[in-house]
Amino acid sequence: MKLTDTQIKEFETEGYLFLPNVFSAEEMALLTAEIPGLFAQNRPEVIHEKDSNAPRSAFYVQTWNDVFAMVARHPRLVEPGMQMLGSDKLYMHQFKINAKSAFDGAVWQWHQDYATWFNDDDMPSPRAMNIALFLAEANEFNGPLMFIPRSHRLGRLEAGHDVTTTSYPLWTIDNDTIKRLVEEGGIVAPKGSAGSMLLFHGNLVHASGSNLTPWSRWVLYLSLNRCDNAIRRFKRPTWIANRDFTPIEMLPDDCLITYARNRQGAAA
Ligand code: SIN
Ligand code: MN
Repeated sequence: MKLTDTQIKEFETEGYLFLPNVFSAEEMALLTAEIPGLFAQNRPEVIHEKDSNAPRSAFYVQTWNDVFAMVARHPRLVEPGMQMLGSDKLYMHQFKINAKSAFDGAVWQWHQDYATWFNDDDMPSPRAMNIALFLAEANEFNGPLMFIPRSHRLGRLEAGHDVTTTSYPLWTIDNDTIKRLVEEGGIVAPKGSAGSMLLFHGNLVHASGSNLTPWSRWVLYLSLNRCDNAIRRFKRPTWIANRDFTPIEMLPDDCLITYARNRQGAAA
């Protein structure tokens, strides 16, 4: 899937791009049917909230689930990354599903992803980005992602290592800085149904609140990095900061539908 010049410009100016309803209901049904089973697994890649047993994230899912292995190579997700990062040689730095579970989903503090990629993983430059796919509706109540538009233009900001607020350590930005940035740029929270996509720059400041609703806010993130910008420190496990720098080879656009229909045919 190729982005238009207008979309590319919007991403470069604002630091993000929202694309509603990119995947069909049939494709999303295949993906969402897998999720409860994934989060129920007892394995290190599935982490839970600090104060409850609710799942928070499932990492590296493309290596342990056939459906998400296809999603990790899907052209509607990977090709926009190639365009925005200016290379057809990208690898998957991180691949995770964030649950933001109904009633129990906890916050993600204000941060830039590149701060963590730089401080923990020694990624040389911010030529990496996130492609998010909504696996459930994100609405105003269930802890949608919040962005400070244009904050990516400030480069990498001062950050502190927060290892206490949630179960997942993150390099976070202090409140005074956030106050200043929000006075300049405001806050947006793109919302939409399952199948919508959100692209955002590695230096865009973002966060999300807790989820007090009965609606889990499942979001899949592909953190794509240029192969010539591979990380140089291997402090975090490979399932969090991937050490396999093999370029992603895209699958055909109809791979999910073909898989779903073949499976239905085999079961009939
Ligand atoms: C992240 O910043 O990596 C995740 C934020 C979220 O899923 O709300
Ligand atoms: Mn982040």
